[in-house]
Amino acid sequence: MRIGVLTSGGDCPGLNAVIRSVVHRSVVDHGDEVIGFRDGWKGLLECDYLKLDLDAVSGILARGGTILGSSRVRPEHLRDGVERAREHLEQLGLDAVVPIGGEGTLKAARLLADHGLPIVGVPKTIDNDIAVTDVTFGFDTAVGVATEALDRLKTTAESHQRVLIVEVMGRHTGWIALHSGMAAGAHAVVVPERPFDIKELTARVGERFEQGKRFAIVVAAEGAKPRPGTMEFDEGGKDVYGHERFAGVARQLSVELERRLGKEARPVILGHVQRGGTPTAYDRVLATRFGWHAVEAVHRGEFGMMTALRGTDIVMVPLAQAVETLKTVPEDRYTEAECVL
Ligand code: F6P
Repeated sequence: MRIGVLTSGGDCPGLNAVIRSVVHRSVVDHGDEVIGFRDGWKGLLECDYLKLDLDAVSGILARGGTILGSSRVRPEHLRDGVERAREHLEQLGLDAVVPIGGEGTLKAARLLADHGLPIVGVPKTIDNDIAVTDVTFGFDTAVGVATEALDRLKTTAESHQRVLIVEVMGRHTGWIALHSGMAAGAHAVVVPERPFDIKELTARVGERFEQGKRFAIVVAAEGAKPRPGTMEFDEGGKDVYGHERFAGVARQLSVELERRLGKEARPVILGHVQRGGTPTAYDRVLATRFGWHAVEAVHRGEFGMMTALRGTDIVMVPLAQAVETLKTVPEDRYTEAECVL
């Protein structure tokens, strides 16, 4: 068989582990040929690819980023490109394409699958918000990076008697904020699923100082917003792909908390550091398993499907289901976390 693989959307620790696994399982165990499209869907649409053999994937397991490069493609660009993608698949003699990506990529994968193209998806996102898989690789690494940063920031906050508002990634969901906040023992966590009340937040942080504590750490997911009408808030805007560009919840919260509490407050934006660098062992294993199972699905001809983790098993689920809803932080998980913060 001939299989094409591509990585699309934001980079994520574990992408290289999937690529390596796909190549090993296909080339070594099945005697297949594998090519990698450069820079995501763009590579498929422009027929820009490289041959992926064992040498090409040697030493990449622990490497962050993606050796194939990535890009974001506007959905309408891909809609217009379905026939071009089909032609390129035929021209290259490909039996299947394995796109590795998040919400946007899986939507595009579904579109191509709906048009009859042989697609098997692999989900990735540090945000962990793909509903049909228990976990996505990249999340464990991102939570680890954020937790380490929070541990480090605590000593600075304490030394300077400050309130630090630490912004972590998560445009629609607060998984990274919740888990890193719990792991590091932050004093408050705000997430997009549960608009915050600035008065309650101020009271919570203020209480710590009243108890004689000298600092406070608030973790804010980048998509967190105040309850409407409770605080003036600049919502940000959209980028060229229609993704939200945040005005900076940490910056706005630090101004507001400093004013209300009379304590020095600083925003800290962790940003892309959460996506970079070497994946944790957990993410390498999950990514490797996803790659292995994607190849098996290709050989069984299970197209229009995606790998997913259910408990400890890897299962195949329809791409159509994968893009229906996002996995948000349920209220009880938030309540659980709140009592230990
Ligand atoms: O989807 C993953 C994610 O990390 C989001 O949490 C974040 O909003 C976005 O990527 C940022 O992407 P970009 O690289 O385009 O700034």
